[in-house]
Amino acid sequence: MSNLKGRNLISITDFTKEEYIRILDIAEEFEKNPKQAILNDKVVATLFFEPSTRTRLSFESAANQLGARIIGFSDPGGTSVQKGESLHDTITMVSSYSDLIVMRNPREGSSRYASEVSTVPVINAGDGANQHPTQCMLDLYSIRKTQGTLDNLNIALVGDLKYGRTVHSLTQAMCNFNTTFHFVSPDELKMPESVKMSVRNANLNYYEYSDINEIIPVADIIYMTRVQRERFPDLIEYERVKDSCILTANMLKGCKDNMRILHPLPRVNEITTDVDKTPYAYYFQQAQNGVYVRQALIAAILGVRK
Ligand code: CP
Repeated sequence: MSNLKGRNLISITDFTKEEYIRILDIAEEFEKNPKQAILNDKVVATLFFEPSTRTRLSFESAANQLGARIIGFSDPGGTSVQKGESLHDTITMVSSYSDLIVMRNPREGSSRYASEVSTVPVINAGDGANQHPTQCMLDLYSIRKTQGTLDNLNIALVGDLKYGRTVHSLTQAMCNFNTTFHFVSPDELKMPESVKMSVRNANLNYYEYSDINEIIPVADIIYMTRVQRERFPDLIEYERVKDSCILTANMLKGCKDNMRILHPLPRVNEITTDVDKTPYAYYFQQAQNGVYVRQALIAAILGVRK
């Protein structure tokens, strides 16, 4: 396996299957022992140009538990971006203040651009509707932990498959594991052709549905997503589709015993709260797994774990 020290993580396809597995193995070690002062001399910058709860706070918790210092912002309104400073200049400055940059930005391609400007590694914490590779890594961790394997699973991806960056990254990653994909969405929010082509290129099968009930008996993982109001150019279209895929506890009769429900969160109404009490709900543990996976990524990229 190649060394991850100094590498950027912009798209899930930047890492190989062997590298995913290595990160998951390191994350397992951190889950057993999350507080280790191995980054005492490091500074991690978290630059969030777009709102976040889990990604920013779990990155900061991960870095803090490893002894690193955190700098950054959660609202560009308090920075010189407001005075018209370019992303180029912001990244040039922050890379001289830190050892690693974690960035979320609403513009697709902005993280790749930042990695070309930066003198320190950049981790993409979400760039518009494009990619969210660290979410994908924690999704892989959660799937392996709940199913005991990543191989030969039936994965149903439900909801906003058009704008949902997490489902794009996860589909591409799971193409390495002989997955059968089930894409459930209204017509307006279907999985983009480019992502479906990744599945076809891997000689795997995908099936498309508009009714979530059809996939409940076959799925090992049901990966729910929020219909993202903020990505719609036309809010009338959002209103038309926002309630099209809702999962309730009553609908789970007949699911497999091993089936688990994932969601990158935040949820709005697509999983009703009665599902939370069922043995199939795993989304809050999934978010907790994000700390261990982000510890593994930070430690590997900063060269203190191989
Ligand atoms: N899953 C996720 O990206 O959540 P946040 O938007 O809260 O970071």
